[in-house]
Amino acid sequence: MIELIEKAKKTHNLTKSELTDILKDNSVNEELFKASDDVRKKYVGDEVHLRGLIEFSNICKCSCKYCGLRKDNTKLERYRLTPEEIINFAKKASEYGYKTVVLQSGEDAYFSKEDLTKILKEIKKYDLAITLSIGEKTYEEYKAYKEAGADRYLLRIETTDKELYKQMHPNMSFENRVRCLRDLKKLGYEVGSGCLVGLPNQTIDSLADDILFFKEIDADMIGIGPFIPNPNTPLREEKGGTFELALKVMALTRLLLPTINIPATTAMETLNPNGRIIALQSGANVVMPNVTEGDYRRKYEIYPGKICISDTPAHCRNCISGKIQLIGRTISTDYGFHKR
Ligand code: SAM
Ligand code: SF4
Ligand code: FES
Repeated sequence: MIELIEKAKKTHNLTKSELTDILKDNSVNEELFKASDDVRKKYVGDEVHLRGLIEFSNICKCSCKYCGLRKDNTKLERYRLTPEEIINFAKKASEYGYKTVVLQSGEDAYFSKEDLTKILKEIKKYDLAITLSIGEKTYEEYKAYKEAGADRYLLRIETTDKELYKQMHPNMSFENRVRCLRDLKKLGYEVGSGCLVGLPNQTIDSLADDILFFKEIDADMIGIGPFIPNPNTPLREEKGGTFELALKVMALTRLLLPTINIPATTAMETLNPNGRIIALQSGANVVMPNVTEGDYRRKYEIYPGKICISDTPAHCRNCISGKIQLIGRTISTDYGFHKR
């Protein structure tokens, strides 16, 4: 097993069966995390890129079985920020020193192509890179957002197991999700994807396929998160993913895609109070602190126990910066694009 990890560290290639062998064997986890940390240091250095996250609407027309924002969840108080509020949060993010804002929402059909392009153009005036995370759109919509200034797009494939994908996503299709990722790449976005770890009936084999898929689509960013069951969804009784397995999938992703950006995800910190720092020491090089203000944070309840719901943007910025510096890493002052 140690030899396999050494091989991955040198060649950045593993076969599916080699990946599953490592995923199944917990006796070499420390060696795996160390190798991934070494590869992170060698290829992307000690800088950590901060992206300010704006959760601008929790309204969603989809019914992903795992997600608290799904349309059938009647227990959630819904909200949608006005364009002025979104632009104002972005302005404040730039004042806090962020070089990127991530605009994330449910699949909210309210915002037209024209509305969003206007918002993007306004935000661009604050010298920010923009990442969008607003779901599946048409080629024309993606093109308009790119032309209006969006630089990156996050759209997790969630799982590459087509049967499981179907079970988890009523009225959605795996093929359309892949189509979106390919369109985004064609349009010149930096493309982010990723998966959930610990979905019901998810196999280790399929997690190995997920990692190979990230390589196949030539991803620029990959976010891995443990699935955390939400009591207001059909998966309320499920066990959910573990921090350890999510960290292993993330570490293997770093070994195979050495130059990409990898966030230490909020879901990891929800399962482990030091989760983001452990992730940063096991292959990650990005953190996405929340810059949404007030009660909106609590209402963007994808899963229970989400961190920082009562904290202010200024507090989070100081909190995470301090933790990053304590482990001897530095906060990047550039846009943090993917350097190949
Ligand atoms: N609607 C957009 C989309 O689906 O791409 C963006 C927002 S969505 C809430 C962002 C991510 O949240 C999803 O890609 C999914 O992986 C994650 N997520 C949803 N429910 C989750 C849960 N119960 N536990 C962990 N992550 C979850
Ligand atoms: Fe909507 Fe995204 Fe949640 Fe699916 S994961 S229900 S698309 S917010
Ligand atoms: Fe929000 Fe630490 S990052 S309180």
